[in-house]
Amino acid sequence: MRIVVGESAAAAARVVADLVERFIVSAPRPALGLATGETMEAVFAELVRRHREEGLSFARVRAYLLDEYLDLDRDDPCAYRNVVHRLLTAQVDMGPRAVHGPNAQAVDVSAECARYEQQVQQASIGLQLLGIGANGHIAFNEPGSPLDSATRVVELSEQTRADNIRFFGAGRSAPVRAITQGMAAIGAADRLVLVACGEHKADAVARALEGPVTEEVPASAIQLHPNVTVVLDEQAASGLVRRDRGVRSGGSATAR
Ligand code: GLP
Repeated sequence: MRIVVGESAAAAARVVADLVERFIVSAPRPALGLATGETMEAVFAELVRRHREEGLSFARVRAYLLDEYLDLDRDDPCAYRNVVHRLLTAQVDMGPRAVHGPNAQAVDVSAECARYEQQVQQASIGLQLLGIGANGHIAFNEPGSPLDSATRVVELSEQTRADNIRFFGAGRSAPVRAITQGMAAIGAADRLVLVACGEHKADAVARALEGPVTEEVPASAIQLHPNVTVVLDEQAASGLVRRDRGVRSGGSATAR
């Protein structure tokens, strides 16, 4: 596992964008796994900047979302498909058909989970971006998720709903259910890039990277993956004990 610590969230986002850029430039038909959340917003913004100012092309990229809320209207701005469209896809040379995700409007939701599981498997994700929840979740695999779980409907924890309510605005509550890729599909990606910024992530990051691999901290499963890069800012890294192991610090942090 490589751990890169940037001196700020912006520096961390640049490191992640470097990794994504290198991947999409070099892979013949890049299959990119996308995460959502505030941490990813800075990464998307940096990728859009590179597209506009440096000509980075996404024309060959196929993107696959990790998860999607259930029980929202199709055009709800908080639906992850719409968030990704607004913040990334619509701003680069990538058509809406190049972005895949679970269809939260499906009548038969279990059939939809099986369909998406197969689609992701066939896509063979080359680089999977991951955020981490303050409770150690990845995608919407909440604590207790089996490490071999498949794409499925999950109930969101109170903590996750409370953490994500900020995206929904006044008068709304966060959805109770979501479809998420399971732990197995995430682990099947060739490379994982987990990103976390802010002090509120420090505990989850320390447990995921330095604690035991356990279903209680789903992100700890990344320890089992052969090709993982973790990109943090100083605050998110502040709970790590083994700071000297593979950690590079500074605003000009780079990762291979
Ligand atoms: C949601 C997403 C996760 C993401 C997490 C972190 O719960 N389903 O994939 O890792 O948010 O979000 P943020 O970056 O906003 O802290």
